[in-house]
Amino acid sequence: MLDKLKELEDEAKQNIEAVKDLDELKEARVRFLGKKGELTKLLRSLGSAPPEDRPVIGKKANALREELERAIELKEQSLRDARKGEQWENERIDVTLPGSPATVGQKHPLTLVQEEIKEIFVGLGFQLAYGPEIESDYYNFEALNIPADHPARDMQDSYYITDQFLLRTHTSPVQIRAMEKRAPKLPVRVICLGKVYRRDDDATHSSMFHQCEGLAVDSDITFADLKGTLHLFAREMFGPGQKVRFRPSFFPFTEPSAEVDISCIMCGGSGCRVCSNSGWLEILGAGMVHPRVLEVSGYDPRKSTGFAFGMGIERIAMLKYGIGDLRLFFSNDLRFLKQFN
Ligand code: DAH
Repeated sequence: MLDKLKELEDEAKQNIEAVKDLDELKEARVRFLGKKGELTKLLRSLGSAPPEDRPVIGKKANALREELERAIELKEQSLRDARKGEQWENERIDVTLPGSPATVGQKHPLTLVQEEIKEIFVGLGFQLAYGPEIESDYYNFEALNIPADHPARDMQDSYYITDQFLLRTHTSPVQIRAMEKRAPKLPVRVICLGKVYRRDDDATHSSMFHQCEGLAVDSDITFADLKGTLHLFAREMFGPGQKVRFRPSFFPFTEPSAEVDISCIMCGGSGCRVCSNSGWLEILGAGMVHPRVLEVSGYDPRKSTGFAFGMGIERIAMLKYGIGDLRLFFSNDLRFLKQFN
């Protein structure tokens, strides 16, 4: 029986080796390993062998079964690989077929609004100014007339890196930096657009958002210049019929200070849900630069005056495009982002 097993081994191996395609391989599997296959038959007839030979024959027969299974598997793989190679050889590349189009990206709505704001103010003679997002307590608060114990700090809590450094809570510190850089030269006319950070998070507030700061300092700047500038901005940004309203307010770094409203862009001023029936929408804070702020930045408040304003860019974009939830700006949903061209 051992001789028979050896014969079977040689035959099966040769047979598998000689196979030319997957069909033949299948046949070889059935012939040797199938239910009625030769090796199976041999194993079944094990009972007729002398009892002392059975374990050796059984062991060898099982080892052969495994070996043949492995050989069939390898053969199958090499037949499949060869077939793939043939397919590739026969394939022709038609260079005249149209390619798949590349997806063209587009600007984020906040980028679009920022570019528009820049264009308006640059057109009025303002320069672009920049400041760091990690700001010192001095520039973010102290120099803006907000000392450590001032209650205005409560509304602007942020991430502190150390006691002296924090993520800036507004773009107003760039006012100080811009003046320090230019003092005592006049005029100063700058805008700064950038990211600011606060401890806020809901449908109309995010812990990171964008602001645009404006500053003009000269020997004869008045509140009328502020009004004229912001009125022009509102009309350029939201349309020629825009009205602007100044309400008295308070900011530590301006005196006097105002909050500025535009006539509601949804209803034109007659009152609707968006403007809570008031006909007005608040868009920014502004005022005349506080003499102390001019002084710490290198300007003599007796010889120069200035105006400043600060607005939230998300708010402008939400009004302009009728967006109800600020979080949409930052959730990277292409269905939202694809709508702005
Ligand atoms: N920095 C203020 C804020 O974030 C906004 C602001 C108000 C800026 C009045 C100004 C200004 O320049 O004059 O709430």
